[in-house]
Amino acid sequence: MKTAPPAADRLIDEILGYRKAKVLLVAAYLDCFSRLERPRTAAAVARGLRLDPRGAEILLDALVAMGYLLKDGALYRNAPVASRHLVPGRRGYLGDNLKYQEMIWDAWSDLRRSVRRGRPARPLEHWLLRHRGFTREYIRGMDDIAREPAREIAALVEPGGARELLDVGAGPGTYSAALQRRNRALRATLFDLPSTLRVTRDLLARRPGAAGRTRLRPGNYRSDPFGREEFDLVLLSHVTHDEDPATNRRMLAKARRALRPGGRVLIHDFMLEKCRTAPEFGALFSVHMLAYTAGGRTYTEDEYRRWLSAEGFSGLRSWDVSAGRRNATRLLLGVKRG
Ligand SMILES: C[S@@+](CC[C@H](N)C(=O)[O-])C[C@H]1O[C@@H](n2cnc3c(N)ncnc32)[C@H](O)[C@@H]1O
Repeated sequence: MKTAPPAADRLIDEILGYRKAKVLLVAAYLDCFSRLERPRTAAAVARGLRLDPRGAEILLDALVAMGYLLKDGALYRNAPVASRHLVPGRRGYLGDNLKYQEMIWDAWSDLRRSVRRGRPARPLEHWLLRHRGFTREYIRGMDDIAREPAREIAALVEPGGARELLDVGAGPGTYSAALQRRNRALRATLFDLPSTLRVTRDLLARRPGAAGRTRLRPGNYRSDPFGREEFDLVLLSHVTHDEDPATNRRMLAKARRALRPGGRVLIHDFMLEKCRTAPEFGALFSVHMLAYTAGGRTYTEDEYRRWLSAEGFSGLRSWDVSAGRRNATRLLLGVKRG
């Protein structure tokens, strides 16, 4: 019998990747894992979630094959990895992020067109402003994945007497909350679209202590000013990858205006090496941006450094965040000159 050459096996593995991703995303979206902390048949899961029994059984069997569920006779239950990360309320819960990824899958389905046209048919604003339910999963999903890097960043950034922080495109406000835990005197202004801030408000209510030191400022970071010499710190976390270089330069100019002399700007994001082809996560994240933003992509650290110098920041420093993890990021700091 002829065995398939390794190159073809590799192609099969890559194709299987999208099938596995879709099975996992749909199961998370439908909340299958919340039903399976104790053993249940596929028919019971189907009844509880109002699914078709054939559909449920085929999906659950695939999840067993992938190692997310265990099967004993006709009974299915969560494997430890699912219990830890896919059951709502668990400390390591990532399910909201998976729900957002499931919604944005539609944008990936249209990738052929986005590559031809260089932009998606439906950009981020469409999803944020017109897609019911998207903002909630998008923002809660950000919170899921931000908690660990936020703790790391809070440990890296010296409080340095900072009293006022502006968090541009704050989303769930996870990074501000971590910086405020490190610096009890820090007040945070969370700047974001009104549709996002509605979700942020709910999340803040669950963070006792932060609410009294946190203001919400609705606005559009493309068109609205950030203020004049009001802040000691301006944070742009996972915001610049959504925008084109000209918009990012304008945001940095507004950040500079909003900072007091000696104030610091922080850029936190995935960053590519000069060649733009590594790390793989960043190169693929750029495709994610092509799929659903009008001008976003993953930038190199050199690009950020050039923009910061051109917009009047000096004393540039940078750190690895989540080093060694697949989704490692960089934190870049610049100080407002004169
Ligand atoms: C990828 S999330 C990052 C959230 C947060 N900074 C973090 O790192 O977890 C991007 C954020 O930018 C916000 N955003 C997108 N377009 C915006 C705009 N034009 N004006 C203000 N905020 C915007 C979104 O609502 C979202 O909260």
